[in-house]
Amino acid sequence: MDKHYIDPLEKKWIVMVAIFLLASWSIILYYAIVDDIHPPSNVEVIDSARLHLDSGVGGGEFREDKLGVHRNKKGNLVVTIVAARYGFYPQTVTVPAKTPITFRMASFDVLHGAHIPFSNMNTMIVPGYITEVHTEFQKTGKFPLLCDEFCGVGHASMYGMINIVPKKDFQLDKGDHS
Ligand code: CUA
Repeated sequence: MDKHYIDPLEKKWIVMVAIFLLASWSIILYYAIVDDIHPPSNVEVIDSARLHLDSGVGGGEFREDKLGVHRNKKGNLVVTIVAARYGFYPQTVTVPAKTPITFRMASFDVLHGAHIPFSNMNTMIVPGYITEVHTEFQKTGKFPLLCDEFCGVGHASMYGMINIVPKKDFQLDKGDHS
């Protein structure tokens, strides 16, 4: 028998697997490009037990009085959120539509998730790491920020709210800082 001989049935399977792989890669590429969905790739460590302190890794970025919406030095909007059993702090954030926004989130205790329907926000918040997500909301309205990683008995009631207002109506609250 020819040593390069491939059984017709095997050939059929090779073709089927190749088609399946190409189809799955195309779907992943399609959503990555069109919907801007991608795995979070930010690797920044933080000491989850010292979020409330100025010292240590992270340097107080997640101190209670610094949470919420603010502008960074470049003038871009940043939302800083702490996830802890069982809630997001602050519970509600107000942000403008059609504006690039960076979310920076950290867990105070265990693994949590952050999912905002109708957006590309769907990520894990791993203790010990800062989760960074870049997004831009298109629709205005109130959307839930849901925890989608099981984190304990209160998991089902762990949610916050994202209030998306028209760009022209947005202003930072007086209590917010830059
Ligand atoms: Cu936090 Cu589920």
